[in-house]
Amino acid sequence: MKIRAVYPGTFDPVTNGHIDLIQRSAALFDEVIIAILKNTDKIPLFSLDERVDMLEVVVRDIPNVSVTTFDGLLVDFAERVEASVIVRGIRAISDYEYELQMALMNRRLSGKVETVFMMPAEAYSYLSSRLVKEISLLGGSVHGLVPEIVETRLQGKCRPPVKA
Ligand code: PNS
Repeated sequence: MKIRAVYPGTFDPVTNGHIDLIQRSAALFDEVIIAILKNTDKIPLFSLDERVDMLEVVVRDIPNVSVTTFDGLLVDFAERVEASVIVRGIRAISDYEYELQMALMNRRLSGKVETVFMMPAEAYSYLSSRLVKEISLLGGSVHGLVPEIVETRLQGKCRPPVKA
């Protein structure tokens, strides 16, 4: 039986930590669908189209990975695309509480989808999209933390702070 997994998230923007997890998932499951949430409470720096575009570029050489968007409940989306696994990354214990809550709630909502937690390489354990945006907005370098396309696009979004 082929196992299809969904890797959901905001991906604003995709980081090397996400990519590490995508590669690990692609090696483990027959098919991985990266699912970007359309409507989130968070105000994104990158539009949905920009996030789709950047992800498509970074996964184009991984044949069993595709990129799409979703709204509504994650478990409904997973059932619709006939995925039996939700992949979530856990970097540190601090992620665990929120992720456990979400996984158990998703299990309550659907008995058909199992959440699988995966750990990125240690080098990415302190990396987050939020910090990448903050560093970039303040004029710092995010080289090595995000793919090249993201680094370039961040430069287009972020202006270094003007000295008073
Ligand atoms: O990258 P993020 O922001 O941590 O991803 C969070 C995401 C998209 C996985 C989560 O917000 C989600 O699944 N939203 C869809 C709505 C939903 O199903 N909510 C109930 C979760 S128990």
